[in-house]
Amino acid sequence: MSILIKNIKDLVGIETKTKLFLKGKQMSELETIKNAWLFIENGKIAGFGKMTDLKALTILQKDNKIKEIDAEGKMVFPSFCDSHTHLVYAGSREIEYIDKIRGLSYEEIAKRGGGILNSSARLHKATEDELVESAIQRLNEIISYGTGAVEIKSGYGLSTEDELKMLRVIKKLKTISPLTIKATFLGAHAVPAEYKGKQSEYVELIINEMIPLVAAEDLADYIDVFCDKGFFTEDETEKMLMAGMKHGLRAKIHANELDYSGGIQVGVKYNALSVDHLEYTGTKEIACLQNSETMPTLLPGAAFFLGMPYAPVRKMIESGLGVALASDFNPGSSPSGNMQLILSMGCIKYRMLPEEAINAVTINSAYAMGVSEELGSIAVGKIANVFITKSIPSYEFMPYSYGSNKVETVILNGEVVNS
Ligand code: NIG
Ligand code: FE
Repeated sequence: MSILIKNIKDLVGIETKTKLFLKGKQMSELETIKNAWLFIENGKIAGFGKMTDLKALTILQKDNKIKEIDAEGKMVFPSFCDSHTHLVYAGSREIEYIDKIRGLSYEEIAKRGGGILNSSARLHKATEDELVESAIQRLNEIISYGTGAVEIKSGYGLSTEDELKMLRVIKKLKTISPLTIKATFLGAHAVPAEYKGKQSEYVELIINEMIPLVAAEDLADYIDVFCDKGFFTEDETEKMLMAGMKHGLRAKIHANELDYSGGIQVGVKYNALSVDHLEYTGTKEIACLQNSETMPTLLPGAAFFLGMPYAPVRKMIESGLGVALASDFNPGSSPSGNMQLILSMGCIKYRMLPEEAINAVTINSAYAMGVSEELGSIAVGKIANVFITKSIPSYEFMPYSYGSNKVETVILNGEVVNS
């Protein structure tokens, strides 16, 4: 089936020259076509242009199996790519949220057996089917908000058996959801209670048992480590990343959320695809990221929800870096996968221009999850994951009008999945 979207008020995020990501000043360049058409065939973007040139497409005149959509007054965007989530989990954690309101810090909650360990205990009791079912609901929700690709991490298992269980759930989701999904092994998310005081033994378990099994079953695309104060050290991170890389897993790590942890430096040293969080980023960290192929990824939902400092994004962009934005969807620090909200937070809290923020949730976040060759922009040959907005006055309205869903029709793999 083919789809022709006509009379598009503004076709946003088109790419005429292939770019895997945008950095520095390029981040404020957002190419669009006003009064445009977009043609989708066999699940891919097959062409686009100005309405005035549409007649020239003879193929369109002949083929009457084309579904036509009139997008008068509406805009088309490439679907959001959410490059950092933990959306497979069992149960919400609003009780800790109350603790947070009362003044406990994220680290204090974690030390009392709350936080990640709380989710780990709950995940242990859940079956694979239950986890798939709750995750599918979350995936359907993020689809309705315009997400077309999502990375999902393990990390609430924290034992070989339960980490494999989580990753099998993600593998199943890949087969049943229309979203493009990447899986990341995050055995080093926290030290489980039974390894308290023997953290190095847990690191050995990850290296000698978990990583080889994850690789043998082909359960993960990437490896992650929470390299931060109170969690895993630079040395431990280094060892685990090396072990992951031996099994073909590229790094995408949690770094510098709670302190200047050295995580950014370790990530860059091992050519991580992304380093994520980065609330504690100074001049040294920025210098280290320059000339690297590592995408700094900001998670404003977590900083907002936890009342943490915000990463110095303006300084990063003005130093020539590219940045990506992702939701961090998880039950502890960011219980929302709404990328429209993340887009707004990018502008409001990081002072990103709408163009910069839109690039950060599309092409740059596609890069941060390793899919920017096939997703993240409107380009011929890319997977047709796009959404049509409601009637909106301008693309700047997307971040401006925070909190309401501006997405009307979602097309994934060239098919309308909701409207
Ligand atoms: O990215 N920072 C570490 N991990 C998650 C939080 C997970 C949780 O609290 O359940 C994050 O914010
Ligand atoms: Fe995270």
